[in-house]
Amino acid sequence: KTFTIVNRETCIACGACFVTAPEVFDYDDDGISFVYFDKNQGNAEIPGELVEDVLEANDGCPSGSIKVSNMPFNGDPTKFE
Ligand code: F3S
Repeated sequence: KTFTIVNRETCIACGACFVTAPEVFDYDDDGISFVYFDKNQGNAEIPGELVEDVLEANDGCPSGSIKVSNMPFNGDPTKFE
């Protein structure tokens, strides 16, 4: 299982994630990213066909704001840090 969440405190609105994984990440009026499926709670299991995109977005985020885990985040991006 794969779960993802954006740390919106550290996101610098660079935009890479929603180019890499447009079906997973969306952005607000300030350009700050969030996980589209569950309003950035990190509790929605990512469908298998989108997992690779999520891992790529995780690799490509310049501020390290995209968190990925095999456990749900319950709304806390720093839960596993
Ligand atoms: Fe923000 Fe990183 Fe995406 S800086 S817009 S979470 S690539």
